This record gives sequence, structure tokens and C-alpha cells, in this order.
Amino acid sequence: MGTNSKTIKCKAAVAWEAGKPLSIEEVEVAPPKAHEVRIQIIATALCHTDAHIINPKFKEVLFPVIPGHEGAGIVESVGPGVTAFKPGDKVIPLYTPQCKKCKFCLSPLTNLCQKLSRVKNPIIDQELMEDKTSRFTCKGKPVYHFMGTSTFSQYTVVSDINLAKVDDDANLKKVCLIGCGFSTGYGAAINTAKVTPGSTCAIFGLGGVGLSALIGCKVAGASRIIAIDINSEKFTRAKALGATDCLNPRDLDKPIQAVIIEMTNGGVDFALDCAGGSETMKAALDCTIAGGGSCTLIGVAIGDKGLTISPVELIMGRTINGTFFGGWKSIDSVPKLVTDYKNKKFNLDALITDTLPFDKIHEAFDLMYQGKSIRTVLTF
Ligand code: APR
Ligand code: ZN
Ligand code: ZN
Repeated sequence: MGTNSKTIKCKAAVAWEAGKPLSIEEVEVAPPKAHEVRIQIIATALCHTDAHIINPKFKEVLFPVIPGHEGAGIVESVGPGVTAFKPGDKVIPLYTPQCKKCKFCLSPLTNLCQKLSRVKNPIIDQELMEDKTSRFTCKGKPVYHFMGTSTFSQYTVVSDINLAKVDDDANLKKVCLIGCGFSTGYGAAINTAKVTPGSTCAIFGLGGVGLSALIGCKVAGASRIIAIDINSEKFTRAKALGATDCLNPRDLDKPIQAVIIEMTNGGVDFALDCAGGSETMKAALDCTIAGGGSCTLIGVAIGDKGLTISPVELIMGRTINGTFFGGWKSIDSVPKLVTDYKNKKFNLDALITDTLPFDKIHEAFDLMYQGKSIRTVLTF
């Protein structure tokens, strides 16, 4: 039941090699095998990771590949053994699987899953399905999957442990953001930093991830939220979402951490780095208060040299941690986040700066490279 054994021909954006723009092609999408689901993607947003992997500096990805990991769609058909999904279900593909059986899945301490075989770098994991083959071909060549999701295709195939069923009335053109950027930033504040009511927070980088972290700090009841970006154009949106102070490090005559320490009488309770460079990571740690301040790392820029920490900073009672997919156990949490959005617990709409037809994917990448968009949603 629900199994369609035919290959589907459809449109997808294929990255043939590093450093070249994606190319819109007709691809073939094979039917789902055991414990796999074929999905019609309705909407997909762009995330920086999609740009990173095609950057020649990021050497580890296998080509040709269909990127995209922030999407939402409708189940078209299911393979043998799939019990949790049926054709017509609204779904969000998950790059963080949840098998519910492994050591990580059984632990309350992490949202990782041992199905991620390369926990050191999950971005280059899940390029093939579990049987080590791809479901995509183009011009007679196999094409790799990306992060187990490949949402830059009108149809994609995912494992049934990489998929969440969401409410039938979910607006897929909005909730696609829950597939990555929103959940990462929001969860970083709620689950990883565990921001407390009445606290003071600093957020470095006000892109999609940083603004989602800001929403998380606000929902958690922070009373002061200092928003930092080198692009002052980001401040209007940050203020609308609840930032109490906005700072541009380039407009200051002292290091940003010194200014924050002065403003807060010793430092913030929670600092979140959503810019992803060693400079902002260092500033985020430095601006936390001794005796309990915590610093959470979220983004990583390619080729970044990482963070050098003075042990004294930690000895004086600061902690540092990091988050992957915002700490959410994916299959359990994503449906709840979709319901929370519907119930207006938070506003995703403020993060969507543009909605464009899929064919304008190059325009969407340009908006991202120019820092003009927060999130662009592409629709099929
Ligand atoms: N200080 C403050 N803000 C900075 C700095 C800096 N030194 N460098 C960059 N920024 C700001 C940018 O101006 C931008 O507004 O950080 C923001 C990052 O936002 P986006 O580029 O839109 O990235 P986002 O999708 O939010 O992802 C955040 O995750 O995948 C990584 O590379 C990505 O590191 C980035 C992070
Ligand atoms: Zn992402
Ligand atoms: Zn698992």
C-alpha cells in the first residue's frame, strides 16, 4: 500500500563541482526502498551550509550532489516496512536522524544518533542511503544525496528515521525553516544554553540562526538581550524581535567584549555565537560573567582556525558548550515546534525575507551572499 514503484523525473538543483553555481536539471528519483520515503518537496529555504559545501575551500563533499536541508513536503510513496508515514502526510526531512534505539537516542543528554556515522563532521555524512546507493541520477550518472535530505529537488528520498510527520494544516512554506536554521538558533537558547527568566544575554551574528536564538532568549524570559552584528541593517529586525540593545563592533572604539562587560556590570549570563568565526567566539566567551556565565557556540565558518581559550576564563566559573540542531531530538521535537508555531509561541514569518520560485535559486544565493536576506524560501 502506498508504494509507487516508478521512477519520477523532476526538477532539481545539482552541484556538479565545487566553486560552480548549481545547475537546474531534470533528474530521475528512484522509488523508495525498505524503510525509505519518497517526498514531494513543496518549499525549501537556503541555509549557509548549502553554500559552504560548494565552496572550493570545503574539500570533503562528494560531487555531483543535490544540496538542500531546510525543506518541507508531502509523502508521495513509501517503501516496504514503513509504518509511520503514508502518502499525503505533511513532513519535514531531518538531517539529524532519530533511530530511537542507539546509545545516543536512548540518552537524555544528547540529540545525536549513532546513525550519523561521522559525528565529527555530520555535514559530510548521509550522502548515500543505508544500502550505500543513491536514489538520484542525472544524465546517466548517480548523484549524491546531501545530509540525508537533498531538498533542492522536487522529489527526494529519505530514510524513515530522517523524517517528521507534522500537522495536516501546517503551512509548509513557513515551517520549512524548522528543518534547520530556526530550530538550531531557538534550541541553542532553550536547550543548550538553557537561558533563564530575568537573565542578560548577548547574541553575536543576527542572521537566521542568531535571530532564532534571540526568539529563544525572549521566549525563555531573558530581560536584557544585547544583539551584535557588523551589519547595522540587521538591527531593525532584531529590535522587533525583542533585542533591548544593538551594537556594531565596527562603530566602537573598544573591543566589543569590553563594552558589553561595562554595560552589564561584569558580563552577561548567556552569550551565543551565531556568527561562526574565532573572533566572535572569543568575544562571546570573554563577555560572559565570571562565576556562572555560559557561552554557546552555534555556527562554524569554513576554514576557521577555532578558539583559543585561557584556562583562567573557565577556572573563574564560566562554561562553554555547543549545539547541533539546537539539541532537539528530531522526530520527537519537530512536530511540536510546528504546533508551537501554529499556536503563535514564536514568529517564523519575521525570518522570511523573500519567497521565490525554485527556478530563482541563483537569486536566492546572491541575496544570501550579499547579506540582504535572512531566509529565502523557494517554492516548487
Ligand atoms: N561580529 C558580529 N557579527 C558578525 C561578524 C562579526 N565579526 N561576522 C559576521 N557577522 C554577522 C553577519 O553580518 C551576519 O548578519 O553574522 C551574521 C551571520 O548570519 P548569516 O550569514 O545569515 O548566517 P546564519 O544562517 O544565521 O548562520 C549562522 O552558522 O552555518 C553557520 O556559516 C554560518 O557561521 C554562520 C552561522
Ligand atoms: Zn542549515
Ligand atoms: Zn539513534
